[in-house]
Amino acid sequence: MFDRSSSSIKTAFFIRVLPLFFLTSVCFLIALANYELERAKKDHRNDLQKTTHHIAELLREPLWQLSERLYTEILSAALNRSEIVCVRLIQEASVSPPVERGECQNQYHDQESFSTEIYYDLGGKKAFLGSLIIQARVSDGWATIKRQLYILASLSVVLFILLAGATLAAFNSAILPPLRHISASLKQLQDTGQRQPVNWSSPDELGDLIRVYNGALRHQTIIEDKLEAAREEAEQALENLQHAQESLIQAEKMASLGSLVAGVAHEINTPLGNSLTITTTIGSSAERISTKVANQALTRHDLNIFISDISEASAILERNLQNAATLVRSFKQAAVDQTSEKQRNFNLKRLVEDVLYTLQPQVKRTGFTFQVEIDDDLWLTSYPGAIGQIITNCVYNSLRHGFQDRDHGIIRFATIDADTRHVVFTISDDGCGMSPDVLHHAFDPFFTTKFGQGGSGLGLNLVYNLTTTVLGGTVKIWSEENNGVTLSFTFPYTPHAEAKG
Ligand SMILES: Nc1ncnc2c1ncn2[C@@H]1O[C@H](COP(=O)(O)OP(=O)(O)OP(=O)(O)O)[C@@H](O)[C@H]1O
Ligand SMILES: [Mg+2]
Repeated sequence: MFDRSSSSIKTAFFIRVLPLFFLTSVCFLIALANYELERAKKDHRNDLQKTTHHIAELLREPLWQLSERLYTEILSAALNRSEIVCVRLIQEASVSPPVERGECQNQYHDQESFSTEIYYDLGGKKAFLGSLIIQARVSDGWATIKRQLYILASLSVVLFILLAGATLAAFNSAILPPLRHISASLKQLQDTGQRQPVNWSSPDELGDLIRVYNGALRHQTIIEDKLEAAREEAEQALENLQHAQESLIQAEKMASLGSLVAGVAHEINTPLGNSLTITTTIGSSAERISTKVANQALTRHDLNIFISDISEASAILERNLQNAATLVRSFKQAAVDQTSEKQRNFNLKRLVEDVLYTLQPQVKRTGFTFQVEIDDDLWLTSYPGAIGQIITNCVYNSLRHGFQDRDHGIIRFATIDADTRHVVFTISDDGCGMSPDVLHHAFDPFFTTKFGQGGSGLGLNLVYNLTTTVLGGTVKIWSEENNGVTLSFTFPYTPHAEAKG
């Protein structure tokens, strides 16, 4: 905290201005004293010169009349003036020798000589009578001006006090109140964030400052209101976006389920078609045999052929129906898993194979193959639906993006035991890979390089969310251009119940 009394503007002003004023007054007094001293000395000299003339006037008559007693008396009387130390009268040598009164031997530095010549007027003609020289102490004049200086100094002190008082009053009435108002308003702004306009008006610079300050406060309030409105709008937009994202994710789920159904229906068609053909063949064979039996034309050979056809047909039928049954089982499991979000105990390898089975139609009769390198005995108590969705999305991505413009490729599924509680499951392809920029944004919602071509950009975001929230794990992605993509999932064998989002 500052010591307000020592750091106030008032103190700063007094510290800076008053000594200046004091020094100016002292200099002014000294200059004035000097001037007055010189003037007093000059007056004194004039005065002494006049006195010399005056004495000379007085001496004229006695000198003319050669009245020695009179003029020596006048000379002695001249010494009555305290500053006159010596009076010397030099007459024409023929008349008499010089007459001196007072101390005329030495002339000290504070003494000066004043002289004048004495003439007698003889009706237009002047007769020289002699010279008068007065030696006198010229006073330093200090005594004369001392009083004046005392008055001046007292006046200065009074002026000084008046000026200080007036300055103080000016500060207290015109400068400090508006400053205190501004300071209080700023403090309120700092402490509570409240904008309190300053209630002060004056036609000076401080008034201008307060007007500008109030204007700035108003302006800031308007800007903040606008910002608040923009923030609310942004929040609303974000909420809408989240809703849109949720419905898109739901739509994505349904779409993948739809394509699963379409694929399985297509797959089931083949064994069912085969079975139908076989049953038709069996039907016509049975009809042929029954005709022969009715006509009593049935031979042992016919019966043997019929039996062999029937057993071959039943083998084919069994194979085809077995295929259809397997397909239905996988489909049922995958469909149930993908629609329900139940935690259950399952074998990871079998789950992967079931899901891939449903995806077979996508790769059949193409150069793309699946490669599963998962331990047969790897059992998890987790969410198979989430893992199924992850696999489906990754396979679709490899087929759509990684193997775009290619006719062959491998999608590999593998696991390693990370530790006793976690498994690391990787899905990789050897496709075209991602550029660093795509890699950087791969998990971002709505990021797709297939915008306008059916890509919503939610696939990998869904993969990320399922891994982190449902499976309670983490996912990392590696990729280089032309070097495929690897997604590595680390998740617990048994996610805690609370990990499910
Ligand atoms: N295996 C892959 N190989 C190359 N690029 C990939 C691969 N998987 C994803 N990508 C890139 O990552 C982007 C984001 O993938 P994501 O699955 O999130 O969206 P999408 O496949 O474009 O759209 P959606 O999955 O919603 O139909 C893709 O647009 C693609 O550019
Ligand atoms: Mg995708």
